[in-house]
Amino acid sequence: MKTLNWDNPLAAPTSGVQSRSVEAGQDNALAPTDALTRPIKLTDQTQQLIQTEINSDFPAAGINLVKPATYEDSANDAESGPQRRSSTTQEATATAQTPPATLSVGVSARRRERGTAEPFTPMKPINSEDKRVVNGMGDINQLAPFKYPWAWEFFINANKNHWTPLDINMAQDVHDYHHNLKSEERHVYENVLAYLTTSDILAMRNIGLAVMEKMTAPELQIYQARQVYEESLHTWTYQHCIETIGLDQSEIYNRYRVVPEINQKIQVANRRLNAVMRSDINLRNSDDLQEFVLSYAFFSGIFEGCWFYNGFSPIFALQRRGLMKGTAEQLQYIMRDEVMHCSFGIRVVRQIMQEENVTLDPRDIRDMWDEAEAAEMAYANFLLPNPILGYSAQDHHEQFRFTANRRARQLGFEEPFAGAKNALPWLDEQSNMRKEKNFFETRVTEYQTGGALKWE
Ligand SMILES: [Fe+2]
Ligand SMILES: [Fe+2]
Repeated sequence: MKTLNWDNPLAAPTSGVQSRSVEAGQDNALAPTDALTRPIKLTDQTQQLIQTEINSDFPAAGINLVKPATYEDSANDAESGPQRRSSTTQEATATAQTPPATLSVGVSARRRERGTAEPFTPMKPINSEDKRVVNGMGDINQLAPFKYPWAWEFFINANKNHWTPLDINMAQDVHDYHHNLKSEERHVYENVLAYLTTSDILAMRNIGLAVMEKMTAPELQIYQARQVYEESLHTWTYQHCIETIGLDQSEIYNRYRVVPEINQKIQVANRRLNAVMRSDINLRNSDDLQEFVLSYAFFSGIFEGCWFYNGFSPIFALQRRGLMKGTAEQLQYIMRDEVMHCSFGIRVVRQIMQEENVTLDPRDIRDMWDEAEAAEMAYANFLLPNPILGYSAQDHHEQFRFTANRRARQLGFEEPFAGAKNALPWLDEQSNMRKEKNFFETRVTEYQTGGALKWE
């Protein structure tokens, strides 16, 4: 029987307490080879590091250990972090006779000390009533009991909707773009993609970096983790379209830097979302909490619920005429995700407002709608200086106002654009991509399409 020294695999095999036996040839992955059994000559420094690491498991062997940290030290960390860190640095410096190894010994010893010094005390069970969307007293690592079972349902439903851009046949789109689109239609197609490429990365960062970390119930974070993935999938989709059609990637991605009407929408979003990404935000402070709620309402209700919802519609107008059907189908999949993101975000916003007793200033809400409308109107005029067949800037603008009213009702806000008309009555149908309505037959893979979803 050959044995390996698992504490020091570079050393020649030995037998003893610290070795684990492996039958030669029993498991190729673990079987010792000549390279492992051959003695290796080590430099003095490497030998010292390995020896120190081994001895760190045997303090009695005579290594000069750093004094292990205690629970009292940990508690002090919270109150005097910088001082404590400074003191640790001094210890490391004082024992620098055997440099990095000495610090490593100290860390190992501290870990062991923390694991054994304090007797285990059972913790109080978590009750669902302890949970809150923000500022909760639950345990972020413990999924159940649920307080928000609807959030878990969102996660389950999102997983029924899995797809990738590679599942959709884009061959006809390549031909359409180069041979069948008029120049004003190519202008629409390219600039819709130029806006969306930047938007979805922004969406991914916002939900992952600004929103998710503030949630104190894990069932909310789990859906948002899925959402982060879906936003990155959307970015892949636009990139796949750009690559497949053969557009100039650099030129398309840089458009938001040089086209003011695209840039304006991104800047509005950046400003509203970055406001809650600051490290010193305190959601127990009512001003900060209001800012967060308004920001999340903007993100879910406008950025996702209007700008994405409406943002795909010029491509759907081409689809309705039999053009760019592969791209349109890609966007239908994205739209289905975005409808869920929007519904989830709005529900979270309402939940926070109820739990934390948040009241938003109506003037702030009005400013939000007006700013979004102005940016969308400028974008529509840039996108469609002249109408394309079946779609105009006026249609786009009016549909934004109509959709904004719907999002406002869902958020519990007053309708901002009284009397707005449903200028694109086919848009809701276009978003409702159930299998039996997939009459374009571009898809090469069948997926369950989330029949349990309620479309808004
Ligand atoms: Fe997205
Ligand atoms: Fe989204």
